[in-house]
Amino acid sequence: MNLPENYQMKYYFYHALSWPQLSFVAEDLNGKIVGYVLAKMEEDPEDAPHGHITSLSVMRTYRRLGIAEKLMTQAQKSMVEAFNAQYVSLHVRKSNRAALQLYRDTLKFRIHDIEKKYYADGEDAYAMRKDLQPPS
Ligand code: ACO
Repeated sequence: MNLPENYQMKYYFYHALSWPQLSFVAEDLNGKIVGYVLAKMEEDPEDAPHGHITSLSVMRTYRRLGIAEKLMTQAQKSMVEAFNAQYVSLHVRKSNRAALQLYRDTLKFRIHDIEKKYYADGEDAYAMRKDLQPPS
């Protein structure tokens, strides 16, 4: 409902079956789902183990209550505990002011790269990352 890009059902099943520890939903008091984070581990043998936020969304009437921050914090924690993730990555539209502020200012992600025309409509993406391990 909230995002222009959505996935086929099999992609959600792939996440749930492969990394059930990493995705979370937020419910209201009646059990209605009002937000989710869909996350996975990247499987690149050349790189350190790292997580990826595939999608995050909170229903309009439940925004600015800290739900997205909580979902993200929970996913990041599980990436470290279950898979020893070294860092977490994500893509976000350059024009998505709310999400950018959440990632950069609240959660302390940094812009790692700009991926030109990443989205189907031609918009660029910021590729963002956040270290999950304390510096040694
Ligand atoms: N404007 C400015 N800053 C914002 C906004 C906003 N609209 N929304 C959140 N923030 C920042 C603020 O710093 C906020 O802290 P504050 O409320 O104390 O000022 C902080 O983020 C934490 O906000 P939350 O309440 O945790 O965020 P919320 O639950 O409202 O969800 C989200 C934020 C997920 C971006 C929501 O607006 C949404 O669902 N948007 C549509 C879908 C979307 O854009 N998803 C992200 C796409 S990228 C991806 O999926 C990897």
